[in-house]
Amino acid sequence: MAAQQVRGVIAPGKNEPVQIRTILIPDPGPGEAVVKVQACGVCHTDLHYKQGGISDDYPFLLGHEASGVVEAVGEGVTDVEPGDFVILNWRAVCGQCRACLRGRPWYCFNTHNAQQKMTLEDGTELSPALGIGAFADKTLVAAGQCTKVDPSVSPAVAGLLGCGVMAGIGAAINTGGVGRGDSVAVIGCGGVGDAAIAGANLAGAAKIIAVDIDDRKLDKARTMGATHTVNSKETDPVEAIRDLTGGFGADVVIEAVGRPETYKQAFYARDLAGTVVLVGVPTPEMKLELPLLDVFGRGGSLKSSWYGDCLPSRDFPMLVDLHQQGRLDLAAFVTETIELDAVEQAFDRMHQGDVLRSVVVL
Ligand SMILES: NC(=O)c1ccc[n+]([C@@H]2O[C@H](COP(=O)([O-])OP(=O)(O)OC[C@H]3O[C@@H](n4cnc5c(N)ncnc54)[C@H](O)[C@@H]3O)[C@@H](O)[C@H]2O)c1
Ligand SMILES: [Zn+2]
Ligand SMILES: [Zn+2]
Repeated sequence: MAAQQVRGVIAPGKNEPVQIRTILIPDPGPGEAVVKVQACGVCHTDLHYKQGGISDDYPFLLGHEASGVVEAVGEGVTDVEPGDFVILNWRAVCGQCRACLRGRPWYCFNTHNAQQKMTLEDGTELSPALGIGAFADKTLVAAGQCTKVDPSVSPAVAGLLGCGVMAGIGAAINTGGVGRGDSVAVIGCGGVGDAAIAGANLAGAAKIIAVDIDDRKLDKARTMGATHTVNSKETDPVEAIRDLTGGFGADVVIEAVGRPETYKQAFYARDLAGTVVLVGVPTPEMKLELPLLDVFGRGGSLKSSWYGDCLPSRDFPMLVDLHQQGRLDLAAFVTETIELDAVEQAFDRMHQGDVLRSVVVL
């Protein structure tokens, strides 16, 4: 069989508008799968790619928060087969690296992606966002990037677990270790921050303080489980969080913006010996300056959370099941469903704070 031609949304160059182009999808080779994409959310990381904040490997095939149905698999693939409903993940663990061998596969340093390249019609190789590239009718991935879940879930909802919602829930539960009775503050209440709020809620946090500069985001955060809200344009968030926690600060503070000033707020808004989790993604030029004595003297832990320290095979089916049981409202993250040709406008709306998630449905 020859390569298939499908539509895909590419970022052609730094800050250039995205384009819908014909892309060529090779047949799956050994260990690979072609997936017919059903839904793909618009994540802030796609915008970072477009703006050059991640790397210069243009053209990018954007989209990475997706679900779909396996269409074909290559040689040696046994975990999934054509017809399976899957969420695409960007952590297909290798089982061999130093993290995997130590029983900590969520830190895997050698995750799998497809070996073959998807290309434009003229043969230009595409860099798929996070090794996925799912603003497309079909995409080629490593079979390990396909995680089977209950097929009765809505594809638009399931896809969100493939990135932002998993990153947020995992930042709270897996990385932050939020437990029953904890006080938690979340700075930045977009899709990722709201998922951290939902995760803290699921874990039994007693107090969940949402911080944002946009009142619309704060209203939404309340519906996700925030018990208190702070508009940090009007109020000093560090003082406000301390006031709400008996003068001490929160046990866990999650930074879901990715900027030095919000990281500093998180650092000073946590209780002594508390935990800061950085899940927001900074850009290469950003620098952080903190008194080293405060880093020492305030104790506790400063952690980063890549993909919510998730293990897709463990976490995706479990979170889909909690959603299907009515215990985790993942549908609340879908602000709108859009066509493939509306990704550029969705970036604008994300930038203006109008949406939590726009989801391309195919
Ligand atoms: N670590 C990971 O694995 C991972 C995964 C997905 C996304 N991310 C990152 O998480 C971040 C958030 O992603 P998102 O999709 O939720 O983005 P988003 O644009 O939907 O949300 C960002 C939110 O931050 C708020 N904000 C902006 N500046 C602020 C400030 N100074 N103080 C307080 N709030 C502020 C905005 O109003 C908005 O509500 C991005 O940096 C994204 O790249 C990380
Ligand atoms: Zn590994
Ligand atoms: Zn993402």
